[in-house]
Amino acid sequence: MERIRTPAAMRAWADARRAEGARIGLVPTMGYLHEGHVSLVRVAKGADCSAVAASIFVNPTQFGQGEDFEKYPRDEERDLAMFEAAGVDAAYLPGVEEMYPGGHQTFVDVTGVSRGLCGATRPALFRGVATVVAKLFLASKPHAAVFGEKDYQQLAVIRAMTRDLDFGVEIVGAPIVREEDGLAMSSRNVYLKGEDRIAARCLSRGLFRARALFDAGERDAGILVGAARKEIESEPRAKIEYAEGRDPDTLAPLTGKVHAVTILLAAKVGPARPIDNVTLGKRIPGRDASC
Ligand code: PAJ
Repeated sequence: MERIRTPAAMRAWADARRAEGARIGLVPTMGYLHEGHVSLVRVAKGADCSAVAASIFVNPTQFGQGEDFEKYPRDEERDLAMFEAAGVDAAYLPGVEEMYPGGHQTFVDVTGVSRGLCGATRPALFRGVATVVAKLFLASKPHAAVFGEKDYQQLAVIRAMTRDLDFGVEIVGAPIVREEDGLAMSSRNVYLKGEDRIAARCLSRGLFRARALFDAGERDAGILVGAARKEIESEPRAKIEYAEGRDPDTLAPLTGKVHAVTILLAAKVGPARPIDNVTLGKRIPGRDASC
């Protein structure tokens, strides 16, 4: 596995792979890897990518004032061993100076789908994400890039940016990988200790409850979201930030009867703020998700 630290060296790697006729897959991460990240590498390989690049970059522009940029967990050597074992061909590890040299002043702002949900409380988040992902695309010239459905709104933002700016990159969504007790894996789960770690189960419990209702025939978005919300509200250590039912494709708010809905949750639990989501039903192409 090659270790690459500058945009110029990354472009050279990508040009060489393209000249050989390879199909390049990119897996962007902020490191401190877990099984969820590793699953994205497998999805890239399954999407016929013959050369897989994976990036590790804790991106300062997506952290707001007072957020955890400085203390975000980092372990480069362990991460590199995990990527190598997963069959990554190139690890892209730029530093902040390489990504944002003095004078940097250009940002990508995806409007519609960045608003609300996580964008409501973290206004810097998606502008920083879209900007860094655009830079990662330009450096690694991928044919396909894989992102987790764990960050469902982020995936929608990246799909919109890729379409609107004609990147010509296939965006592949990958399913959420969970701990045995249901908690969605996240690098930030290290912030959850003791009682908080147990309490954080309430998000997935709420989503599983909503799924059970949907499977039993319930189609009212308000009732489905309400069931998920109730699980969080019954956990004293958790403080709900949002619980919403949205169109799985457009993220438009949904109420009333639906044939498909994505329920998205965020809650404060101790020093952490886990997010989670589930998509119930299948959206019928060309129709909206309401009945
Ligand atoms: P990070 O949180 O490190 O996540 C990197 C990728 O792994 C994202 O696509 C995310 O959705 C996916 N992922 C995280 N936890 C997952 C899980 N439990 N199951 C499946 N996939 C999971 O998301 C970011 O970094 C950054 O915002 C980034 C896109 C790299 C831009 O800086």
